[in-house]
Amino acid sequence: MAALEIRFSALGVAALTAEQADAAHQDLVAAINHHRERYYILSDPEISDADYDALEARLLAIEARFPSLGEADSPSKTVGAAAADGFAKVRHAVPMLSLGNAFTAQDVTDFLTGVRNFLLEYRNDPAAPIELVAELKIDGLSCSLRYENGRLVQAATRGDGQEGEDVTANVLTIADVPKILAGSAPAIIEIRGEVYMSDADFLSLNAQQHATGAKLFANPRNAAAGSLRQLDPAITKTRPLRFFAYAWGEASEPLGTTQAECRDRLRSWGFQLNEPSRVVTDTDQIMGFYDEIQDRRPNLGFTIDGLVYKVNRLDLQQRLGFIARAPRWAIAHKFPPEQSRTRIKGITIQVGRTGTLTPVAELEPINVGGVMVSRATLHNEDYIAAKEIRVGDLVVVQRAGDVIPQVVSVVPDQRPDGSVPFVMPETCPVCGSHAVREDGEAARRCTGGLICRAQMVERLKHFVARDAFDIEGLGGETIEKFHEEGLITSPASIFRLTLDAIMFSPDKILRRRGWGRQSASNLIAGIDARRSVGLDRFILALGIRQTGQQTARLLARHYGTFDRFRAEMEAAADNHGESWANLLAIDGIGDDTAQDIVDFFAEPHNGEVLDDLLNEVTVQDFVPPARTGDSALADKTIVFTGTLPTLSRGEAKARAEARGAKVTGSVSAKTDYVVMGTDAGSKADKARTLGVTVLTEEEFLALCGG
Ligand code: IVH
Repeated sequence: MAALEIRFSALGVAALTAEQADAAHQDLVAAINHHRERYYILSDPEISDADYDALEARLLAIEARFPSLGEADSPSKTVGAAAADGFAKVRHAVPMLSLGNAFTAQDVTDFLTGVRNFLLEYRNDPAAPIELVAELKIDGLSCSLRYENGRLVQAATRGDGQEGEDVTANVLTIADVPKILAGSAPAIIEIRGEVYMSDADFLSLNAQQHATGAKLFANPRNAAAGSLRQLDPAITKTRPLRFFAYAWGEASEPLGTTQAECRDRLRSWGFQLNEPSRVVTDTDQIMGFYDEIQDRRPNLGFTIDGLVYKVNRLDLQQRLGFIARAPRWAIAHKFPPEQSRTRIKGITIQVGRTGTLTPVAELEPINVGGVMVSRATLHNEDYIAAKEIRVGDLVVVQRAGDVIPQVVSVVPDQRPDGSVPFVMPETCPVCGSHAVREDGEAARRCTGGLICRAQMVERLKHFVARDAFDIEGLGGETIEKFHEEGLITSPASIFRLTLDAIMFSPDKILRRRGWGRQSASNLIAGIDARRSVGLDRFILALGIRQTGQQTARLLARHYGTFDRFRAEMEAAADNHGESWANLLAIDGIGDDTAQDIVDFFAEPHNGEVLDDLLNEVTVQDFVPPARTGDSALADKTIVFTGTLPTLSRGEAKARAEARGAKVTGSVSAKTDYVVMGTDAGSKADKARTLGVTVLTEEEFLALCGG
């Protein structure tokens, strides 16, 4: 959504022409309706109350000058409700993860092969079956229910997986959720599953909303989310929510030995389970079940967006573990995306944080699989040329999950007369700088760097985003406004904001609308609370190309301190030598990413921005996450070479990393251990030459603590 966010004109209302006022008014109506929905319907506001108030104030000012705009359905004619506090936060004892996706039979086969290759005894015995449980993938919102001594004590949404919202009072109103578990349950057990709404309940809720003039929900998932995340549980109580259990988090004792057995236990405690489910062992059986469910999909009575396959044996699940944000032992198999046809009214250009110009199709609004779509990404000029997309064309649009809608194809015989091929602009629509396309790249990029407002504003938004500095009260709208007024011009300038600067407009006479002393001092407190930040968040916040959360974590873990990281990146600028080799040796960092990181530090302007920032904030050294078992491998650098007798390379690496070791691909003087299997090549020789300790798999397992 960020890239598609509306940008407001810097013009004051008094200076607007009628045409500009009309355009600004349309933008504001869309934005206000959007934020009302986030706030009142979804209980999930994206901006502060103050920022929202500023939007309404601007709307009123425009309507005061151009009264004809204030007619009919303007949000100025409807009343908003009072501001409310959000939910308390809950830290999950065991993170709530997401699932990797499969779309084709080949993806499923690849998943099965991956599981088999990870578990060496199965790789060596291709005939040995690995059982999976195939379940329905419910399209609702996931929730974790904590029971202590059989009693429901807390319910939390997934949130970012680490921390969710306390929705206990609301969940207590859901009839499907047992408040006291039947039979004997572990003293502590967290049940995970999906809060959802049945299709019939969704339709009657919408009929009710319609009758009372309330806003309609786009689909059952939104209805469930909006109903659960109500600040007033009395409202949730009137909403027909249901719950399916399908997993668990913290448990004070094992639940069983297989997924299927655990499903039965969940049922015995009083939970509803998503049925039908089936135990399967190969792609053919899986595809049989998939086709069967796809046929039955319209008649299930609730919305599903695919199936989930989970390795049945829990000991194997345990060994397979997790990668990034998803388990290795499970995968979601999605149903094909829903498609609709509509016309392209125009093509606009969005400029992203890194300066990429993205063409966006402005569509006649259309319902695609229950969601209204009015814009779709066109990716880049090659995509437009390859699909021969023109303004005016009738096109097929699809949504796949939460992904931004796409234009799939053009319906050629519906092309209007006189249409012309689209030509990508060669200048940036935001700052007017040249937009160039480098060899081998599909994207055209603005060369304006930090003088380009789109890039600066997007970089700043990225800087304060949830996974980066996560500054409370400093959302996208505030960044836009403060940047527009010159209050925030660089990351460091955020930390130099003062109460007076926030409360008063630059001329120091006009009091800023919507900002009371309280909200301004809350923002200052929110900023002060982030003057010390973790290394991984700091690296992510810098907005280095191709450096997302996962890469930032790898770098933080590898280098430990910011000073070391920076010095090493500066030393790596020669593209050979030890620092460069060390960077490339980090598993998960390829040549391109390494180059982007080094380039970032080589750019003098970035150095200045960094120095300025480091005067304001402290970067905490990386603290390795809690490790399981013995930590004899903590902070050791390990290289695996050759074929190990019982562990696949993947499992060996996962075990080492789980114990705090760093696994790299090449042997150097900094390597602590080389674990050698059969057919080990030059790495073993190099280890011996350098005097690095060489271990057998058995010795390695002993260091792992068995
Ligand atoms: S298992 C560690 N089983 O899909 C794995 N998830 O796209 C935990 N979902 O976050 C998830 N039906 O909200 C699992 N039968 C099912 C599911 C299911 C729906 C949701 C869940 C998850 C999301 C991932």
